[in-house]
Amino acid sequence: MEKLVVKGGKKLCGEVNISGAKNAAVAIIPAAILVDGVCTIENVPDIKDVHVIVQILEEMGATARFLDRYTLELDCRTLHTQTAPGEMVRKMRASYYLLGALLGRYHAANVTMPGGCYFGPRPIDQHIKGFEAMGATVRQDGDMIVARAETLRGSSIYLDAVSVGATMNIMLAAVLAEGTTVIENVAKEPHIVDLANFLNAMGANVKGAGTDVIRIRGVKKLAGGSYSIIPDQIEAGTFMVAAAATGGDVLVKNIIPKHMESVSAKLSEIGAMVTEYDDSIRVVGSEKIASVNIKTLPYPGFPTDMQPQFVALLSVASGNSLVTEGVWDNRFQYIGELLRLGARIRVDGKTAFITGVDHLEGAPVCATDLRGGAGMVIAGLMAHGQTEITDLDHIDRGYEKMEEKFQALGADIVRVSY
Ligand code: EPZ
Repeated sequence: MEKLVVKGGKKLCGEVNISGAKNAAVAIIPAAILVDGVCTIENVPDIKDVHVIVQILEEMGATARFLDRYTLELDCRTLHTQTAPGEMVRKMRASYYLLGALLGRYHAANVTMPGGCYFGPRPIDQHIKGFEAMGATVRQDGDMIVARAETLRGSSIYLDAVSVGATMNIMLAAVLAEGTTVIENVAKEPHIVDLANFLNAMGANVKGAGTDVIRIRGVKKLAGGSYSIIPDQIEAGTFMVAAAATGGDVLVKNIIPKHMESVSAKLSEIGAMVTEYDDSIRVVGSEKIASVNIKTLPYPGFPTDMQPQFVALLSVASGNSLVTEGVWDNRFQYIGELLRLGARIRVDGKTAFITGVDHLEGAPVCATDLRGGAGMVIAGLMAHGQTEITDLDHIDRGYEKMEEKFQALGADIVRVSY
């Protein structure tokens, strides 16, 4: 097994290049099932979740090869089954995109209930509601979801929850359906727009991604082509917070600053200097971190996936901060680990009440989930002494060589086997 050993107290300085977006990649890769040709997907992040979804497709018969570290050539015309391998599917949340893509292309999908980080129940009722509105029947057989359709017809679907997964999954099912599908009250995250752009680049007719209503006019077929994935907004935000947390000076490169607005605004409020350029943002930390209140919301609100990183930062702010989780029922498991480092945080329902302490003190902690793990790394970078972080599988699912990027910024962080 491996752990990260962090010796805190170093100011991060320099430049960091941000990888392609995980939550776009894990939808765009299975979307290739819909394509009658070869897809060349660029700026694919080198992370575990990507390798798992590629392996799932390969086991189902797809032909996949990396032309270089970040460019994936994928041909799903050789798929020989509509059943996804259960053990692999359980390793990640985004395997639910196989449902929409297989249903859209073959009118049949058998996919085990997906895994991923646990934040309380993670229902997929809105995905299923969308498939059923288009004429599919969906039933659960053990832990397998079985979806079938004679034909898929365009329909009007109003989402009861603003769901990233349901929005993208219904888009996938609709691009080859007969007629027009209108999805209302959709999520507007940058990765929704990225999936729509990918599908349109392959010949789909998807309009309105990034607004509250998406209209998809079904087309007969999608042809192959090339597409480059957007930069990862959450990886960028993680490095921005780490720069502010250590009083450093970091240029976060290869990003879309517009996607970072809510994060940049909060970092300015805590006293960091944030300067936007065309495709990068510089963050210079201040001596003192001011307390702030945060509520996570669907995009363009403050992202839930940045909540643990900010709570880690605010644990040493001067004064009291309130952080309210507005997306998930239970996304505070990692706070028990922050308490081991000396943070003073009380959780009541969906709100964390943070009383800033003078400093954190290094200790052994674990990554309870992907972003909780990122929060632990930031806490370790700020803490006095040594912090050891275990359960790195979570971090590796979504961050590409995280410790190497931090090392290049001057952090004292190493990965060791034990
Ligand atoms: C995506 O999860 C991301 N994962 C999550 O990022 C992210 O936290 C989340 O969106 C919100 O931004 C991927 O893209 C793979 P949702 P997803 O459907 O799609 C409720 C990370 O750290 N809901 O938008 O599964 C649900 O319970 C991960 O990178 C329903 O009620 O989230 C939640 O309260 C963690 N019924 C809310 O909607 C449904 O059918 C948002 O969930 C679907 C969702």
